[in-house]
Amino acid sequence: MSAPRPKPYELLTVAVTVSRRRPGERSPRAERFEVAIERDSTVLHLLYAIRRQFDSTFSFAAHFCKLGNCGACALRVNGDTRLACRVRVTGEALDIQPLPGRKVLCDLLMEASERIGSRPPLAATQDD
Ligand code: FES
Repeated sequence: MSAPRPKPYELLTVAVTVSRRRPGERSPRAERFEVAIERDSTVLHLLYAIRRQFDSTFSFAAHFCKLGNCGACALRVNGDTRLACRVRVTGEALDIQPLPGRKVLCDLLMEASERIGSRPPLAATQDD
């Protein structure tokens, strides 16, 4: 009797629009990417893929729990406030924005203040 075969790896191309804003810029601008990523990856994985595939300066809260506990990865995803480390990529087009009312440091990286997770936020660190 043979072991069950692993589920085949399925690569998707996802249309993603993200808010970009460099320090010193007055207004954000939308930037669109076609990102190749494995189905069922998280939106946080998608943000890493944008950084890896297109722009190494793309900034977001990257150094936190990745388990849905700290709330540091909270973003607006298609108009809803969601934890990027918990939302799965299905192939649907995505529009990703910082949370309203939060000070944007760069792109999707916001000043730490509120949280939507169950534990206190970790100390804010500058994204690499
Ligand atoms: S990184 Fe998503 S909740 Fe902590």
